Amino acid sequence: MLKDRTVVLGVTGSIAAYKAAEIASQLTQSGAIVNVVMTEGATQFISPLTFRALTGRPVVTEMFDVTSEYSVEHVSLARSADIVVVAPATANAIAKLAAGIADDMLCCTVLATRAPVIVAPAMETNMYENPITQDNLSELKERGFVIVGPAAGWLASGREGPGRLADISDVVGTVRRVLGKQGDLAGKHIVVSAGGTQEPIDPVRCIVNRSSGKMGYALAEAAIERGAKVSLITAPVSLGIPIGADAMSVRTADEMRQALESLVPTADAVIMAAAVADYRPKNLAREKMKKRAGGIKLELESTPDIIGNLKGDFVKIGFAAETTNMVENATQKLKEKRLDLIVANDVTAADSGFGTDTNRVTIIDSQGAVEALPVLTKRQVAEKVLDRVVTLLTKTES
Ligand code: CTP
Repeated sequence: MLKDRTVVLGVTGSIAAYKAAEIASQLTQSGAIVNVVMTEGATQFISPLTFRALTGRPVVTEMFDVTSEYSVEHVSLARSADIVVVAPATANAIAKLAAGIADDMLCCTVLATRAPVIVAPAMETNMYENPITQDNLSELKERGFVIVGPAAGWLASGREGPGRLADISDVVGTVRRVLGKQGDLAGKHIVVSAGGTQEPIDPVRCIVNRSSGKMGYALAEAAIERGAKVSLITAPVSLGIPIGADAMSVRTADEMRQALESLVPTADAVIMAAAVADYRPKNLAREKMKKRAGGIKLELESTPDIIGNLKGDFVKIGFAAETTNMVENATQKLKEKRLDLIVANDVTAADSGFGTDTNRVTIIDSQGAVEALPVLTKRQVAEKVLDRVVTLLTKTES
């Protein structure tokens, strides 16, 4: 999504300006062309050379620079932009943008661009909470600017409160989400389940599995970046919710089933990446079970098959975690659960399956066509699966 896209990164004079270096670096590493514009104030906090080195691009700091490669700088910068990000944005920068004042290169560029503009405020709490700043931010929002943050926490003033620059992952995630609005899943509702369900035994113990949720979260993130509205039904995992996902947290297989049933009426596709418990304790002990000599017997009952019982007109994709006869077992699941596609992985391989960042998967469709993919990152696997979703959705529409 960011590859070869041009991002104009406006940096203003806040103590958080140093964090813009990390934003520039992450965007560049993702393949974006990053043109940094700094206000004079920003150059007091961080050197243009830092951005020059991180982006490999000239950095604009002055309104009239005869040595610059840009012809009429603010116009050519504005025109080059697929997106403009002002991070950090001071109260002063926000006031100028809201009023349309064009007395520096950054404000001129924002006024001159047709690209979407993201603003990430960073300032002292009182300045942020001041009704003037709040009005300016409302004005920007009304005009279609996307505001990200601020976060709350420790501030340079020594106080705590709202005003910190949003987390870098939030800023970069918002750039991806806004650019994704033009993606091939724009307007589609994709429901993704992720993580391993937990089935309680007593108030402190449960049956779990080793799913990390990484595959499901990668799918959610990739679908958002391709423009989809994403509902993420997540069992407990230790991952941050992807920016822009509508997340529902669940614990048990039954809660996951209920959450999915509530969402399928509007879904274009359901991708069931969660590792759902097949069994749960038949009786839930109300009190913590006491240790007993000689061990105990736990009676388990089956949980409902979620994806196999979801009814409706949407593309159904399942995953199959296998340790033997991967293709045969996965094909059987595809048929039994009436799926459009199943993504099988051999969970015994060191570079594939639970907890890893990579996956070695085989995609099988309802015609029986088998595509074995090499080892890929979970994000790359997500893109491959979503390519298939796009094809399946196009087929159902035609
Ligand atoms: N699944 C489901 N509901 C369940 C169990 C599994 O919807 N109660 C989904 C999984 O999310 C996955 C697919 O079905 O998309 C296959 O899951 P997997 O655990 O590989 O297979 P099972 O059907 O549980 O069969 P087995 O455990 O015998 O391999």
